[in-house]
Formats: sequence, C-alpha cells, structure tokens
Amino acid sequence: MLKIVSYEQKQLKILLTRKLHDFAIKELRKRYDVETHTGKIPMPRELLVSKIRDKEGLICYPYDTIDSDVIQAGRKLRAISTFSVGYDHIDVKAATRRGIVIGYTPEVLTRATADLTMALMLAVFRRILEGNDIVRKNKWRVIFGPYEFLGSDLYGKTLGIFGMGRIGKAVAKRASGFEMKILYHNRKRLAVQEERKLDVKYVSLDELFRKSDVITIHSPYTRNTHGIVNLKLLKKMKKTAFLINTARGKIVNEKDLIYALKKGIVAGAGLDVFWKEPISGRHPFSKMKNVVIMPHSGSSTVETRAEMAQITVKNLVFALLGKKPIYQVRI
Ligand code: DGY
Repeated sequence: MLKIVSYEQKQLKILLTRKLHDFAIKELRKRYDVETHTGKIPMPRELLVSKIRDKEGLICYPYDTIDSDVIQAGRKLRAISTFSVGYDHIDVKAATRRGIVIGYTPEVLTRATADLTMALMLAVFRRILEGNDIVRKNKWRVIFGPYEFLGSDLYGKTLGIFGMGRIGKAVAKRASGFEMKILYHNRKRLAVQEERKLDVKYVSLDELFRKSDVITIHSPYTRNTHGIVNLKLLKKMKKTAFLINTARGKIVNEKDLIYALKKGIVAGAGLDVFWKEPISGRHPFSKMKNVVIMPHSGSSTVETRAEMAQITVKNLVFALLGKKPIYQVRI
C-alpha cells in the first residue's frame, strides 16, 4: 500500500472507534500507535471524549457523533478519516477552524449504493419479499393466473431522482437500462450536455413528486434537507408511487412517511436508512407489507467495503503527513 514510515510518524497516536479490515489495521500499525475501541458500538461518548485527548488521528464511522465537544477534547487532533461518504456526523466547521483535515470515501461506493437502490426499486415494484414470504409460509396456492400476484413494470415508468450527485447519476444510468423516463431535482442543475448524455430532465421538487412513479433520494443530509420529504410533499405523489431512500433517514420526516404509507397516500417504500438506526422488528415500517427494509447497507459489498477501508487509511496517512488526502471534505 503506502511505503512511507518515519520514526516521527510512529510516535503519532490514532484512535479507531471500531475495528477496520485486518489489512487496514496492519497498515496503520506499521505507522502509528493504534488504539481500537472494541466495546459497545457506537463507542460511548464519554469514552470517545476521554480517548481522543492524546490522539493525532481519528478513524470513525457514520454513526459516531464527532461534534465540537469531541473536536475540542482532541487537542492534538490533526486528521479525521471517516469510513463513509456521508460526513453529516462530523462538525466540519469546528474541525476546519482547528485546521483538522477530514477525509471521506466517495466514488468507491457509488456503484454499490446505486445497485441497492435498483434492488429496492425492483423489490417494491415486483413484491419480492411478499412473494418470498408466501412460499416460505406455505401459502402458495394458485400456480399461475391472469390476476395472480401482480406487481408493476419498471419499463416506461417515471423515475424521480432527488439529488443528482455521483450516486444519483449512477442510478440514472441503471434506470435507463430499464427504459425508465428520468426526472431529477438538484440544488444545481446539470449542464445541458450532461442532461442529454444521461437522458434526464430537470424539474422542480414539487413537479418531481407529482410526476414520478418512484422517487429515489440521493441528496446529502444537511440543515436544508432535514425532514424535507414531509407530508406536504408526500401528498403530491401519485397514490401508486413508491419512495426509495438509500441516502440518510433524516431527509424524510419518518412520522409523515408512516402516516402516508398507512393511509395509502403512497403505495410503498424501499428503505435502507432511518431516522434513528438501528430500527427493530417492532418499528412500524417492519410491520408493513408494502415496505422493503435493508439495514443501512448501501455500500455493504465485500469489494466496496475493502476499497473504503483502503481509502480511509490513505486519507488518514496523507493528512498526518501534511499532504492532501485522496478525498477531502471541504466546507
Ligand atoms: C455512507 O458511506 O455514508 C453510507 O451511508 C454508509 O453505507
């Protein structure tokens, strides 16, 4: 991987809030004095605050809250490397004020997350989980019939992509393979050439929700997107339309979505992320037949997670060497 090990680097202390791949730990141990939290996940806050005090580097995960208190406690902290594309769990302003460099892992998880989005879309359109359940619970009676167990085609349907960054674009590419029509809404409209290449049409958020047969969320979670998908917006959806979320749970007002699903305001949902994770089998979503749930697994493939680990390590090493990380979060 990386060849540079200096005596000076060996003196640096780093904290991992959870174990990473063995190859990654090995790489880190060659360079640093490594402390890995092995207890409760997420690492309890008081423990994090006390352990960060003498560390120069931190490797964290999307569920670790790295707020201004943690950053303040880390008086020696020079680099934070998160094993995620999302960095809404880090107080970027507070870290930047202190000159702390933040690394993250975009790009490598784009394909896996776009794939899971399509999987959720297919699962809700074709009622995959219900079908699976019928057979396993010994309820398969009619073999094949004109009205038996109907789902809907993706072909010809309108897909609404909310957030046209890397993952949104990867979803658009996949959806055009299914011959869907694609609308999108983004903070910034794409260049016309790129719109043409992707065969996508820019619309307002309102129009996106009114016209789509399935909406998929790929915007970052920020103050502006907090709870943005609320009942008012959900009510604009077609009653036959589905909502897919593989971005962040808090972009959707969860209570409103539960209400909309119960009242038939929307047809169903495919959800990988939730307001507060993990959710249990008692959560209202877990009891709904028209909701397909995954446990926050957008990037959970063997290949992607290994690539994420490599980048997480490289980001930290580069930042601690005073170099630019492969992917740096900037305000
Ligand atoms: C991320 O990287 O932010 C994802 O949500 C984790 O799967």
